[in-house]
Amino acid sequence: MKDAIKQFERLLDQQIELYGDEEALPREALQTFLPPKESPEALDDWQDSKNLFLLQDRIKSCVKCPLGYSRRSFVFGNGNAEADIMLIGEAPGEEEDQQGFVFVGRAGQLLDKILKAIDLDRAQVYITNLLKCHPPKNRDPQSNELASCLPYLIKQIELIRPAFILCMGRFAAQTLLQSSLPLSQLRTKIHFVHGASVVVTYHPAALLRYPEFKRAVWDDVRLLRKSYDEWLNQKS
Ligand code: URA
Repeated sequence: MKDAIKQFERLLDQQIELYGDEEALPREALQTFLPPKESPEALDDWQDSKNLFLLQDRIKSCVKCPLGYSRRSFVFGNGNAEADIMLIGEAPGEEEDQQGFVFVGRAGQLLDKILKAIDLDRAQVYITNLLKCHPPKNRDPQSNELASCLPYLIKQIELIRPAFILCMGRFAAQTLLQSSLPLSQLRTKIHFVHGASVVVTYHPAALLRYPEFKRAVWDDVRLLRKSYDEWLNQKS
């Protein structure tokens, strides 16, 4: 069956190349006539995973939502598995889908600069997304996709046990905090969920589009740095 799916995906790629994205059969449509890549039972034991490596291995074939059929890569997350600080974005973009790593495109380059501004780098933090699969054309995550993927994120948080989480963007903030408040009202304060202090800021991709958010993001990450330093001082 895997070969059949691969063959189908190759055909679809050819179609996209020949006719463009608009004309081609949407990848998501594949799921309507293909059986799951793996039986749901094969995914059943993921909740018992004792480390990130096992978790990734057990959920990487997930097809709980249609994105499982359209993705190229299952983008699990990257960074320090014992990080004090975890960063949560929205979903892999085109570049991340191609390469299989989080934040490797333009938004990722900006994220590196944001981290550097508060004296952090990728080796010190763990970065993941709300969704592990790329939504076609970078459209907003849909509620069935969020519902399917959220338990994986919560398990990642449980395994890493970060003291701090930085939610980047409205979807990450509202989903993790289970709130419908706008991002502007979730910023500038420290929330507490899943054993971590949570700071909310704009997504780096939004910052690329609206440079006027720069001041706000700077304030948010300084709040994160200040709270983190206080926590470190209390620990020592
Ligand atoms: N945007 C995200 O939210 N995550 C990525 O990994 C890349 C872009």
